[in-house]
Amino acid sequence: MKKFDNVFVFDHPLIKHKIAILRDKKTGMKEFRELVEEITTMMTYESMRDVELVPVQVETPLETCTQYKVAEESIAIVPILRAGLGMVNGVHKVFPTARVGHIGMYRDEETFEPKEYYCKLPEGIEKKTVFLVDPMLATGGSACDALSALKKRGCKKIKLMSVIGAPEGVERVAKAHPDVKIYVSTMDRELNEHAYILPGLGDAGDRLFGTK
Ligand code: PRP
Ligand code: URA
Repeated sequence: MKKFDNVFVFDHPLIKHKIAILRDKKTGMKEFRELVEEITTMMTYESMRDVELVPVQVETPLETCTQYKVAEESIAIVPILRAGLGMVNGVHKVFPTARVGHIGMYRDEETFEPKEYYCKLPEGIEKKTVFLVDPMLATGGSACDALSALKKRGCKKIKLMSVIGAPEGVERVAKAHPDVKIYVSTMDRELNEHAYILPGLGDAGDRLFGTK
């Protein structure tokens, strides 16, 4: 895949280890959910490298010093329903007070085109750094539309986090939204004729919620 400045692929051995278990069809719902959460937490650490810090005065037992903290109220999490819900706790582990918005998208099974069916965002989201989360970035249609929906509502600083990306989908989002940093923990090979990611992990929503 061509290299894009706004795409970051993790190459951490621990993430690789967890993704190997996640892909396994024998991994059950509970473990799958826990792994998605753990991987998201690791991705959050990495993707926060450029986060803005604010100075604070801290009194240690010995003296007062200037330290730096992330303004937690400056972060929002927006999962793309349903599967994105599986990543919310992973970000909350790091920023427990982050507000959560929801965007509902489903892929039409024939055209693979995303359809928005729900959008509820926290007040003042336009001033926050938004983590748009969805474990699967396949054709990139859902992510592209969700990013446009957030921008339409005034969001300017958005990061997209996906556990698995397909090259064609990542390229599509990177080109359509060059201002958005895209983090994927692994880049897979390709899409099959049903727009499923190969080797992938199957249907993330079904595996997270046990619907099939
Ligand atoms: C999955 C996934 C993404 C989308 C990715 O959702 O969670 O939202 O497909 O595909 P795309 O990149 O080709 O748009 P799905 O539509 O299966 O809905 P679900 O989360 O409710 O299972
Ligand atoms: N959505 C999924 O859940 N899995 C895929 O492989 C593609 C889209």
